[in-house]
Amino acid sequence: MEIFLDTGNIEEIQKAAEIGILDGVTTNPTLVAKEGISFEALIKKIARIVTKHNPRAIVNAEVISTDAKGMLKEASKLSKLHKNVVIKIPLIPEGIKAVAHLSKRKIRTNVTLCFSANQALLAAKAGATYISPFVGRLDDVGSRGLELVEEIRAIYDNYNYKTKLLVASIRSPDHVLKSALIGADVCTMPYKIFEKMFNHPLTDKGLEKFLDDWKAYQKKKR
Ligand code: G3P
Repeated sequence: MEIFLDTGNIEEIQKAAEIGILDGVTTNPTLVAKEGISFEALIKKIARIVTKHNPRAIVNAEVISTDAKGMLKEASKLSKLHKNVVIKIPLIPEGIKAVAHLSKRKIRTNVTLCFSANQALLAAKAGATYISPFVGRLDDVGSRGLELVEEIRAIYDNYNYKTKLLVASIRSPDHVLKSALIGADVCTMPYKIFEKMFNHPLTDKGLEKFLDDWKAYQKKKR
């Protein structure tokens, strides 16, 4: 499963990219607005950082227009920022229309704000590269976000759709684990969840013991 960071924060992206296992970054207007630099400059900077460590890593840049014509205009500008930019488009009829056009032109897209399996079916039919179901936001309103991931996996497998299942709005390491068990293609997560995936108290305890034992052994040798 691919791991993306869901952030526009350069420091976080730098730290994660340096580890060498980052496959991409997703941004959205809310995340970009937090960073205080121009959208285009931020996307270019992120692309530079992630591709330095992984030449195939992608950066998602979201359109603001709500009509297909406007989205296509934005997509053509954004895709010129870097060859690894993927255009993020909202799941509305005009968005699906834009995705269908972009897919014919081989421009990669990520259809965002997906809250139902029928929406995911429409995105796949339009040739979306990625579909982004928002699990955390569904959990927040009392639905089961991960059930949506299961439904999309089943539909895409039934018809052999190539659209990649990218789980978004992740709130816990358990969301990542369950997504991997379901067979999601990608999980995009805040940096704090990425960090938490490394943690286990027995790893810390075990390492401490190994190092203590090594020190004692070195002392004995002298
Ligand atoms: O980037 C889209 C998605 O991951 C947003 O997550 O936490 O704002 O629901 P969240």
